[in-house]
Amino acid sequence: MSGLAERRILLGVTGGIAAYKAAEFTRLLARAGAQVRVVMTRAAQDFVGPLTFQALSGEKVHTDLLDPDAEAAMGHIELARWADLIVIAPASADCIARLAHGHADDLLTTICLATESPVAVAPAMNQGMWAHAATAANVECLRRRGVTILGPASGDQACGETGSGRMREPAELVSDCTEVFGPRVLSGHHVLITAGPTLEALDPVRYLSNHSSGRMGYAIAASAARAGARVTLVSGPVQRPTPAGVERIDVQSAREMQSAVATHLEAADIFIATAAVADYRPAEIAERKIKKGDEDGRTLALARNPDILGEACARSPRPYCVGFAAETDTVAENAQAKRRSKGADLICANAVGAGIGFGDVDSTLELFDEHGSVRLGPADKETLARELIMAIAERVRSLTQEQRNKAT
Ligand code: C5P
Repeated sequence: MSGLAERRILLGVTGGIAAYKAAEFTRLLARAGAQVRVVMTRAAQDFVGPLTFQALSGEKVHTDLLDPDAEAAMGHIELARWADLIVIAPASADCIARLAHGHADDLLTTICLATESPVAVAPAMNQGMWAHAATAANVECLRRRGVTILGPASGDQACGETGSGRMREPAELVSDCTEVFGPRVLSGHHVLITAGPTLEALDPVRYLSNHSSGRMGYAIAASAARAGARVTLVSGPVQRPTPAGVERIDVQSAREMQSAVATHLEAADIFIATAAVADYRPAEIAERKIKKGDEDGRTLALARNPDILGEACARSPRPYCVGFAAETDTVAENAQAKRRSKGADLICANAVGAGIGFGDVDSTLELFDEHGSVRLGPADKETLARELIMAIAERVRSLTQEQRNKAT
């Protein structure tokens, strides 16, 4: 199966003479087995008509943000979620600037702002525009956010000048897209992932919880699905769309998470525990809202929550088990100690502290297994997730090989 077979690619076409090459790009993507949907900006339609792309993709072309008919068929948020990859080719200097500044005043920029899928842009513009400091800053901004920049190439330009700014050739863009997806390293595997916080009820209106956003776990789930795995995501309460191709089970408390994990663990051969599980829960959940009294303070009795990862590691047979550890200091010792005490195969340590590890800044992950450690990043969480999935796949493959060798 080709690396693009059955991949859902949303192609954004913006206004530039290279728009005519996007027609050939569409044809090649479709020939490689991808499902292609095309979004055109108004300026792109001055160069090539939507009908060309409709004929090549076999799908109606999307052009307007505020078209009730198109929105009824597949709205902009659905398109943003449908795509496994968004690739903009050609991407004009204006489009790059608007993406960098988070504009959402047309269909394409709105989709890019709404999506959780990878975005790649193939710049195409006059060499002077490409060399301009404003474009360079916008491109750097996108790159830092995890957008893949494809090219541009150098050579003769439509305007008669020569230099850097030509769009890469359609065939090259097809292999770039294949590379963005990476190989299907987890094809045939079933990955179970926990993500997000847990929420521990105190009474019908109050709870104990934490600030976990679920971003890392969701990025790992998306990467595992793109790598060809069947993915089950057991998620605590977070406001995030379910990644394409992922089965999601929503839970609230640690005990609900424990039970959902137990149900799906048998079928899984890889378990990745990214959830920030509350270590303790209120010892009792009051049936009615707890009333305040006259006393100055109150003591809350807490009960220990189950260690979901620890339980998974203790099973026999068991999946390949991966845990996370947020460490502020002596990262290596603490991570290796946690790996041994839980019985996990791999611990991913992320250094946290003042200004690192939180929010949208780049971070690093250090992976510890019985053979030692390897560092990923610094990079955004989506890139780290992709690299982590590659690293896990490699370890699972060599373990399976070792087991086969032992058996013969
Ligand atoms: O136990 P500790 O919080 O130090 O370990 C963190 C790792 O263990 C994470 O991978 C987390 O998802 C997992 N964990 C769990 N159940 C708990 C506590 C942590 O699965 N009750």
